[in-house]
Amino acid sequence: MAVSKLEIKRFPDGERYLRVQQDVSGQCVAVIQSTSHRPDEYLFEYLLIADSMKDLGAKKVIAVFPYLAYARQDERFNPGEAITIETVAKLIESVGTNEFYTVDAHLHRISDISRIFTIPAYNLSAVPLLVEYISTNIELDNSVVIGPDEESEQWAAAAARILRADFDVLEKKRINAEKVEIRTRRLSVKNRDVIVVDDIISTGGTMVETIEVLRREGARKIVVGCIHPILAGNALARLYDSGADVVLGTDSIPSPVSRVSCAPVIAFALRNVKE
Ligand code: R5P
Repeated sequence: MAVSKLEIKRFPDGERYLRVQQDVSGQCVAVIQSTSHRPDEYLFEYLLIADSMKDLGAKKVIAVFPYLAYARQDERFNPGEAITIETVAKLIESVGTNEFYTVDAHLHRISDISRIFTIPAYNLSAVPLLVEYISTNIELDNSVVIGPDEESEQWAAAAARILRADFDVLEKKRINAEKVEIRTRRLSVKNRDVIVVDDIISTGGTMVETIEVLRREGARKIVVGCIHPILAGNALARLYDSGADVVLGTDSIPSPVSRVSCAPVIAFALRNVKE
């Protein structure tokens, strides 16, 4: 498989210039494009790239979004809201994309990513790579896996299965009108090393709250692992300030903690694409 170069630059007015520097005619082309931090820009860039590839005669264009932005808004939670993930899927398809791949999309209410797309769409998982990194590089004793909330259960459960460890998620319990208590559902973390697993760390708010609860409940070492380290603003500093011992994520989004590469799962999937 060859790696093709693209020339992308900006005109003074902010418009984008794109030139494909290799003959893609008759080729099956995979466009790897993450959509973090400036999702609209990267999404539009993908549309330009994919449309140009098709226009230049590419036989097949495969979209690979290691991080798929807009997946959290997959429902109209309040009247009038845009279901943004559906719009994103329509745009990706509109330029002739033939197949779509992403990594650990935030699918909580939608069980299968192919329900959003009409083209073949696949949701790969980097949880095994994250877990392998943790178990190879971090010394843990009597460990337990914790998800910060119910939405994280699928990632925490997958990590626990691989590690053969116990897992639980935190739940919020209303004590009275003024008081909400956050605690583990059934497991104690007292004197145990904890691996907290979630798909996304964005502002860090969810994780900070989780770390504070775990510290209060007597956890020993706290390792925070996520697939997509958006780490907006000072999120990383807040995680360490609140008591995390280690924070790590994958390179679906480049960040100071992106120590785990998603490349092996993506490469494996692409190797099986029928040209
Ligand atoms: C949401 O349900 C996700 O799984 C994450 O828990 C959430 O996106 C984290 O966001 P933040 O870091 O801003 O609290």
